[in-house]
Amino acid sequence: MLGQTHGSRSASVCHWKCADACARPDENTSGNERFVDVARRALARRTSRRSVLAGSAAGAALAALSGIAPAAAAPKGRGAAARSGSLAFSPIAPVGNTVDAVTVPDGWRWETIIAWGDPVEADAPAWDPAHQTPEAQKKQFGYNNDYLDVVPFRGNGNRGLLVANHEYTNDELMFPATSDPAQRLLDLETAMYAHGMSVVEVRRRGKDAAWQPLRRSPFNRRITLDTEFVLDGPAAGSPLLRTSEDPTGTRVYGTLNNCAGSTTPWGTVLSGEENVDQYFTGAPDPTAREARYGLNTAGRGWGAVQDRFDLSNAGTRNEPNRFNWVVEVDPEAPDEAPVKHTAMGRFKHEGAHVTIAASGHAVAYSGDDNRFDYLYKFVSRDTFRPGPSQAARRHNKTLLSDGDLYVAKFHGDGEGIAEGDYDGTGEWLPLYVDGRSMVPGFTAEEVLVYTRLAADAVGATGMDRPEDVEPSPVTGYVYMACTNNTRRTGAQVDEPNPRPNNKDGHVIELREDGDDATGTSFTWNILLLCGDPEDPTVTTYFGGWDGPVSPISCPDNVAFDDAGNLWVSTDGQPGTINYNDGLFLVPVEGPERGRVQQFLAVPTGAETCGPQVKARDGYVLVAVQHPGDLGGASYENPRSAFPYDGVFAGPRPACIQVLPA
Ligand code: FEO
Ligand code: CA
Ligand code: CA
Repeated sequence: MLGQTHGSRSASVCHWKCADACARPDENTSGNERFVDVARRALARRTSRRSVLAGSAAGAALAALSGIAPAAAAPKGRGAAARSGSLAFSPIAPVGNTVDAVTVPDGWRWETIIAWGDPVEADAPAWDPAHQTPEAQKKQFGYNNDYLDVVPFRGNGNRGLLVANHEYTNDELMFPATSDPAQRLLDLETAMYAHGMSVVEVRRRGKDAAWQPLRRSPFNRRITLDTEFVLDGPAAGSPLLRTSEDPTGTRVYGTLNNCAGSTTPWGTVLSGEENVDQYFTGAPDPTAREARYGLNTAGRGWGAVQDRFDLSNAGTRNEPNRFNWVVEVDPEAPDEAPVKHTAMGRFKHEGAHVTIAASGHAVAYSGDDNRFDYLYKFVSRDTFRPGPSQAARRHNKTLLSDGDLYVAKFHGDGEGIAEGDYDGTGEWLPLYVDGRSMVPGFTAEEVLVYTRLAADAVGATGMDRPEDVEPSPVTGYVYMACTNNTRRTGAQVDEPNPRPNNKDGHVIELREDGDDATGTSFTWNILLLCGDPEDPTVTTYFGGWDGPVSPISCPDNVAFDDAGNLWVSTDGQPGTINYNDGLFLVPVEGPERGRVQQFLAVPTGAETCGPQVKARDGYVLVAVQHPGDLGGASYENPRSAFPYDGVFAGPRPACIQVLPA
């Protein structure tokens, strides 16, 4: 696992995160929107050159140029002074990909809130990295935090519930090397329980102080492979979801590969089950349906711990169908079973984000993070009930249980590629509407369980790995990060995915027609063609902004501040533009539209996840995932000491808070 793969991330990230998906055949073999007229669609390699923000000095110069007071001019000690719903800072310079440090702007500091191994449940033992056990890990903070939020308590802004996803594990960084098969099996089981989610009560002394976990709280909860989930919605109980362990097809133990997520307007947390195929071993002769979901005969050997992960065992064949859903967790209800929503379809959900349409319907956008896969939209059958009452909350928790499911088809205007102006129209193709399948040859249950194949059948547009998709809380416009796709060839480019060998990714802005989130048509344009603008071999575009920008590559998660500025976090810069991954501010309205400014960088080998920009409170939350994940790194030979607290010689994934110095 040495070296880099496909120019985007380290080989060990590929192996542990998504089971070497880059190196495997494409899961989408439908051919949708991939073979287009080469002559008409050949991308004119028009490189627009612009300079790069080189750190505080350049940032200050740029800020002066654009009439914005740079953070350096802010009152001493208050470098974070909020400017009308955003945060004021001088952009940091890009950080080289070997630097083992969290880098924040002048006038800011960062603190760890909670890290892998810290106690979550009241009876959690102290973390002992040299002697880990599954029983201890079940009660301790899991590995590789991805989605992250702190949901404040109503009426008390200094108490809240931290919710984090634990997407996957880096076993070689977690455990001492061993040749003892029994120890190896124990480590495997510990790693299994380092997946899932955590809910932790946090408190702070005031707005200037960082959140701190409460050691004993009735809300503290690890969600693991032992946690019972309810499968709800139209496909619940389907024969496609039944196994010998659960003949009802309505109950599942655990959630896996929880990647991005969101906090709903009613206070619950959604989490996307992403690359779950890697946990299942030995699907003999995978069917076309199974292959479309990445299932093959490889796997991580989890069947040695639990029978259901070895699909050669009788009665297990449908177990993978019980993952790849959007899950909903109510952090305020620690005794309540979380829910897997079949109405929202089954695919490699990066996450899901809800907005409330003018009609009151809950609308959720979700990307299928896979090369040439699709963007989906769910529209609830029922409408949102506002207000803080428990009755309203109970009602709203049913909104994602039934509704209509659509997939996006993008149309270019036929001139975009030649003009370097990538935009067009689009339509939401119906998959499941009013309780019925809209896809010939598919039953309703098949549409929801084999959603990828239903979307293939209606001709959805294959995108360059759609990751986070989120509507702006200010404009309602929707922003989608397409992280990269080095498999797209020149013959396969189209206007919404205009670059062959798209190693740097792009960000698409989508506007629903009539500003109606429930509608079936939209317009779109490309906001960012990411990359290093000083690299003459790469076509970049920054929303029309022609001034200096921070180089950016592999956009993954998106977030908004209270002013409606977009914030983008990255996953893969070390392998593409040779900088540590980071978090970037991108105005999307006004004269600075497209001016990418780097706010922070995570340590070497890490990915920037779960960003939350709490502008009114003047702080930022970031989940630092897979720190020190570099070729040749191991438990014995760590390449990062993040979070530098002396607890462990190696790296510990952790949730951090960035706040004024
Ligand atoms: Fe888990 Fe799509 O990143
Ligand atoms: Ca992601
Ligand atoms: Ca990612």
